[in-house]
Amino acid sequence: MPSFIEDETTMERVGQPGCVGRSSAGAVKAPGGGRGPSHVGLIMDGNGRWASARGLPRIEGHRRGLDALRGAVRAAIEFNLAYLTVYSFSAENWSRPLDEVRDLMGLLKRFIRKDLIELHRADVRVKVIGHRANLQPDIRGLLEEAETTTRMNQGLTLVVAFNYGGRQEIAAAVRDIARMLAAGAITESDIDERLLSRHLDTADIPDPDLIIRTSGEQRLSNFLLWQAAYSEFVFLPVLWPDFDRGAFAAALAEYAARDRRFGGVSAPREVSVRTGS
Ligand code: FPP
Repeated sequence: MPSFIEDETTMERVGQPGCVGRSSAGAVKAPGGGRGPSHVGLIMDGNGRWASARGLPRIEGHRRGLDALRGAVRAAIEFNLAYLTVYSFSAENWSRPLDEVRDLMGLLKRFIRKDLIELHRADVRVKVIGHRANLQPDIRGLLEEAETTTRMNQGLTLVVAFNYGGRQEIAAAVRDIARMLAAGAITESDIDERLLSRHLDTADIPDPDLIIRTSGEQRLSNFLLWQAAYSEFVFLPVLWPDFDRGAFAAALAEYAARDRRFGGVSAPREVSVRTGS
């Protein structure tokens, strides 16, 4: 069983080139010394292509994808991220062949059944976003168990986006707000960005600073549409099963080199002004 707890080997790597760790001031430092993200979203794409390149069935790609996910959680702990959100099953993935849907459901069960104790020991708090009503009762039960068992944990928050779609999430929030308006609990002028944010599945989670997508595809695919308004994007040419600590660190280094302005202007840099004298 994989361990999520930082072992001596990972601890030794902290502080070495290419590694991310907390600075003495407690801020997250990225490779190269810049400031690292607090919340990273992962679009884990390319399992099918990884499998077909090897003449294997797609499920084998998803199985190897689960191993890569375990590695990503370990790396996120090592890199001191506060939140890691993983897109593990989209609201649109139901359109895949029935066997593949069944396999993905099976992998989710395996992940929670096999890894929950380790995640809990590593102080990981699990949170699930997405629509649960149409999931099998045993899967709903496991998702609830994962959240309940780990709810008091203080380490990494692992947000599992399962049966998740950004448009569906926004539509559900609008329905909630419409009901409140109809009941007279709010007035039209109460409806603003903050109110809508509070009605999303991610109400208590900060927006992602960085979204990484593997496989070379460059799109959001209905992932955290509202929350990604000011996220940075890094698109990696690796297929998800090949995503490892080095690829994660490289994405964080790229993030650290970005200038985030949130619609404003950069902080003034030191410039040397020639007076001509
Ligand atoms: C996209 O690759 C990946 C998914 C739809 C599922 C992601 C699942 C895992 C990483 C395994 C862990 C699973 C759970 C449920 C915890 P793709 O199949 O679209 O790849 P392709 O674009 O190459 O066909």
